[in-house]
Amino acid sequence: MKFAFIIDPIAKLDPGHDTSVALMEAALAKGHEVWITEIDRLSIIEGKAWATLELVKLEPVKLIDGLWVAAANWYEVQETILQPLEEMDAVFMRVDPPVNVSYLYATYILDLIDPKKTLVINSPAGLRSANEKVYALQFQSVIPETIVSHDKSVIRKFVEAREAAVLKPLGGKGGEGILFLQKGDRNFNSLIEISTKQAEPVMVQTYLPAAKQGDKRVILLNGEPIGAVNRIPTGAEFRGNMAVGGRVEATPISDRDREISAKLAPKLRADGLYFVGIDVIGGYLTEVNVTSPTGIREIDLLNGINLSKEVIEWLEKQQQ
Ligand SMILES: Nc1ncnc2c1ncn2[C@@H]1O[C@H](COP(=O)(O)OP(=O)(O)O)[C@@H](O)[C@H]1O
Ligand SMILES: [Mg+2]
Repeated sequence: MKFAFIIDPIAKLDPGHDTSVALMEAALAKGHEVWITEIDRLSIIEGKAWATLELVKLEPVKLIDGLWVAAANWYEVQETILQPLEEMDAVFMRVDPPVNVSYLYATYILDLIDPKKTLVINSPAGLRSANEKVYALQFQSVIPETIVSHDKSVIRKFVEAREAAVLKPLGGKGGEGILFLQKGDRNFNSLIEISTKQAEPVMVQTYLPAAKQGDKRVILLNGEPIGAVNRIPTGAEFRGNMAVGGRVEATPISDRDREISAKLAPKLRADGLYFVGIDVIGGYLTEVNVTSPTGIREIDLLNGINLSKEVIEWLEKQQQ
């Protein structure tokens, strides 16, 4: 099979951590071709989505002293071609947030791929409809109390009715801009002004004390949970994200995780959100990561498994 990966510049990826690299390695290991491109290398020509694609070879990471270690020159570009993306069997859209105007325009280009010929993971329409923070609000029975607003009086009322809350910018990732808010905070108005940039709504959610025990990432493939990892805040940090130093710990997929996944599955499938990472804190769904969910390297490392292989094998089956 031929796979295309739309990614951030490959030189900036961290092979020992990034799920995109894990998926590329798994595809190569199964004898498939892996082509890479970036959002500014996409075009529409004669009504079809085209891309300037580079064929890559990878030196897979190795497990050394309990860590994934990559070779200095872990990737090699072999040839460059301009081709319709429909020549590929599957296209992974895995550009990191922010979901800005360039990102949205890229999804419009990907709309011109015939889904009967090429599966786009995740579907461009799904990526547009699922803001990673707001999408979870469609599943009210499994989320903590949450509002989305930029009205200071609405936010204040919500926080004052609780001991503590967290504020989340809607376009953030890896813990960016997440604030801990407490009743009576003298910086309250300024914090809201800075976070809303005077124009954007933000999410405000009940603070879940269980976050101290971890923020669990569960990877869903076509709505089915296939692996999980717990991320525990370290030191004085209240956020558990790996990007801000969260410590990872092995954890099984619990009954509650399965229950939440089952609630999401029909909607995820309908939206073409085949590969997502949900965040679960204290048994509550807090985020549905759809753009470039990560966690596979850590899950593989802690459990001695190969989740990316499972993903590639699922795609092989879709093609048959
Ligand atoms: N309701 C909450 N209560 C306590 N901590 C939270 C809550 N929501 C998020 N956090 C903390 O903030 C971190 C980031 O939150 P999340 O919503 O997953 O945004 P993102 O990962 O996109 O930055 C989580 O890892 C967790 O530690
Ligand atoms: Mg998160």
